[in-house]
Amino acid sequence: MSQIGENLLKAATLLEANELVAIPTETVYGLAANALSETAVVKIFEAKNRPSFNPLIVHVVDVASIHKYADLDPISIQLAEAFMPGPFTLLLPKNSIIPDIVTAGSSKVAIRVPNQMMTIKLLMLLKFPLAAPSANPSGYVSPTTALHVQEGLKNKVAYILDGGQSEVGVESTIAEVSDGKIILHRTGAISAEQMEQLTGLQVVNAESAERPSTAGQMKSHYATKTPLYRGDITKMIKENQDKNLAVISFKKQYDGLKRGHEYVLSPKGDLNEAAKHLFAVMRIIDEGQFDMIITELFPDKGLGRAINDRLGRAQVMYKS
Ligand code: TXA
Ligand code: MG
Repeated sequence: MSQIGENLLKAATLLEANELVAIPTETVYGLAANALSETAVVKIFEAKNRPSFNPLIVHVVDVASIHKYADLDPISIQLAEAFMPGPFTLLLPKNSIIPDIVTAGSSKVAIRVPNQMMTIKLLMLLKFPLAAPSANPSGYVSPTTALHVQEGLKNKVAYILDGGQSEVGVESTIAEVSDGKIILHRTGAISAEQMEQLTGLQVVNAESAERPSTAGQMKSHYATKTPLYRGDITKMIKENQDKNLAVISFKKQYDGLKRGHEYVLSPKGDLNEAAKHLFAVMRIIDEGQFDMIITELFPDKGLGRAINDRLGRAQVMYKS
């Protein structure tokens, strides 16, 4: 098993030696390597069993550093200054210093400035940026604690930097400025409305934009091993009395469930709190002996959209 700790110097030394280190961020934990070293980045794809066509996000210490690795248009600068550091990633034309393996051959690189003290300090110690996808085996739920990383990657990472539970709990918003519009590639804590208000530009979803969608938009992502169904919880409970059910709901407690079978993400109805707990709850349920996970549509606003997106990727179609 990989060691978990808070030793920044150890993490930095390993990264300088082209080894993998898991890093805490405010969204989810990342599996990091020197983004400028092909030798190091290859190890990320191997450890995660990630297809080589799925590009990685590059993490930098501050907005000013982005200029070293990518070209910024005025709108992208405006977005970066407003939402970074934070749960926000920009797709930008890359400089040649970023190896092609990082972007899976694309001329654009995804860049973000994480807002997590330990990881910012780590980036300050390093002379290079960090390529880091979420620190889970490809296709599984993203980790929001150091222990989640250890459970998923076993001994495939040299060191896991423990920064506690991720504050946001779902992956960053991914946006791209293109032809006077903003393309939203992935929903996250920074909303389309926030970007529209700031820039006055229209935000369009990647699926509706006339271009291939990001690999992160692939349908079979974030899936639990236990089949997950979404719909009318009361109805699905009634129709599946014979099964061992686990329910994930937003704020409402449902009738007819045994203790330990129900996970209310935020009894007080706070979507931020719900997002923070979502992935941990999916993992806890997956460790139990449940036949099925039943969940519902969350409110279509704020982090409810990111929750709906991730649950939508995890779900199996329900037939009554
Ligand atoms: O919150 C986050 O963004 C976390 C933390 C660790 O920073 N990272 C993360 O990475 O979620 P990952 O690899 O699990 O998801 C990154 C997504 C992928 O869906 C990938 O396809 C997309 O970003 N992406 C990365 N680079 C891209 C590029 N050059 N062009 C298009 N999509 C890109
Ligand atoms: Mg991921």
